[in-house]
Amino acid sequence: MTALSNTTRVLVIGAGAMGSGIAHVAARAGHGVYLYDTRAEAAVQGRAAIARDLDALVARGKLPQAEADAVLARVSTVAQLADARDAGLAIEAIVENLAVKQALFRELEALLGSDAIIASNTSSLSITAMAAALQRPQRLVGMHFFNPAPRMKLVEIVSGLTTAPEHAACLHATAVAWGKIAVHTRSTPGFIVNRVARPFYGEALRVLAERAADSATLDAVLREGCGFPMGPFELMDFIGHDVNFAVSNSVFDACFGDRRYTPSLIQQELVAAGWLGRKSGRGFYDYADGAARPRPHEAEGHTAQASVTVAGDLGPAAPMLARLAAAGIAIRRTPVQGRMGWMEIGGTRVALSDGRTATRHAVEDGCPDLVLFDLCLDYTSATRITLTRADQCDAVACGVVAATLQQAGYRVSVIDDVAGMLALRTVAMLINEGADVLLQGIASAADIDAAMSHGTNYPHGGPLAWADRLGADLIVTILHNLQRHYGEERYRVSPLLQRKAINGEPLHE
Ligand code: NAI
Repeated sequence: MTALSNTTRVLVIGAGAMGSGIAHVAARAGHGVYLYDTRAEAAVQGRAAIARDLDALVARGKLPQAEADAVLARVSTVAQLADARDAGLAIEAIVENLAVKQALFRELEALLGSDAIIASNTSSLSITAMAAALQRPQRLVGMHFFNPAPRMKLVEIVSGLTTAPEHAACLHATAVAWGKIAVHTRSTPGFIVNRVARPFYGEALRVLAERAADSATLDAVLREGCGFPMGPFELMDFIGHDVNFAVSNSVFDACFGDRRYTPSLIQQELVAAGWLGRKSGRGFYDYADGAARPRPHEAEGHTAQASVTVAGDLGPAAPMLARLAAAGIAIRRTPVQGRMGWMEIGGTRVALSDGRTATRHAVEDGCPDLVLFDLCLDYTSATRITLTRADQCDAVACGVVAATLQQAGYRVSVIDDVAGMLALRTVAMLINEGADVLLQGIASAADIDAAMSHGTNYPHGGPLAWADRLGADLIVTILHNLQRHYGEERYRVSPLLQRKAINGEPLHE
């Protein structure tokens, strides 16, 4: 399917943050763009915002002045929709309200040529429900940009039940021609990104609610341990708690109250207090001038051990041993039965969490001196390792483990004993959500990973790629342990993961 030619005029309705950004992108790709807003001054301000963005690109040497002038000249504001009746593509980015959007679509349908495609930038409404207002519902497609549209690479192309596949394919090709990474998704609450990403916030909020550590430490666990560009609390502060909480509620409500998406009382309190994050100067962190940024917990070093005994195979954590060896720590190996091995450091057993608390793990495996460590998506490049100890295990023993890992160049945080720690349970839940999106035919494995890599900048290839590296059976074990611990359907395992775990098959074909 070919992209729309850049001789096709594009009408953007709603000239706020998103509409002006989308108009910018279309004009950069060579289209003549009409910008319309019910408030005439908003359209003028939207065009001025495009001019400012273009000026910034010129100032940074990213765009020649002549080209910036040509791009801006292609954007014209219109006082009424009738002035844009020759548009071949209309993209709405107006208020998030189904009835208001449907009224607009009826007006557009009466105005535009019969082959014009109508697109919605909605992030939470059903494309199918919106299209039902049209006489030809097949012409409505979701075209979900991310904020800020000129900079964010991803566009989700959303098909409702009645969307014509050729229109979805045309907008996919058009988004690619506009320099974007485009993915196909069916219309479902949250589409790909806003659905699969829920556990990134949800698990961290639950671990915080259990007071396993403070937000600065938990942010560092995911940022420095797994390579996420931002931790969940700083990211929620950045997005704005009003926006993030609204998305969580919208997915929860749209899924008939599925407990997997239960919003957080902690976040509800922040919204109630007006602590919306950066934009209000206060969220999980204080953004007042001169406010000190809290530091993550750093383990107090004890005496590092000169040797480590490794029992069996450490699975995904095996690359940690090369770092220990490179730091001059002798590695002794001893064979052991069972799927996942462990280390002995100064007489303490040190193992990767499997979703049980350390306290339960210590009892069930008969090893009271037990320290667990959290998942890193890549132990070679990780700069922080997180530990927790069983209630039966001495704090000094944990300090000796920390000192030995610090010797290998890791920063070490210790958190309280919470099931699945933080990174492990977050990663398992992101994978679980991605697996269900795949199972339900909402998007392909490649598009799920592309969406999460480019819509939220997740590291190391995205959740299904992580699943294939870690193994579906490990993820199933973690989720089963979390479900047993909490007794909540939140942790129910995707049927696809269960199936892939049986034969050790990958999620990417
Ligand atoms: P905004 O509030 O900045 O801008 C909306 C604009 O639409 C306003 O200028 C308003 O005057 C205008 N408007 C309202 N009703 C209108 C109508 N009937 N006809 C013409 N213009 C109308 O909102 P924002 O953030 O740009 O969001 C717009 C849409 O994009 C929403 O559907 C939102 O869910 C979606 N979206 C927002 C994202 C974000 O991060 N802000 C990300 C992706 C999608």
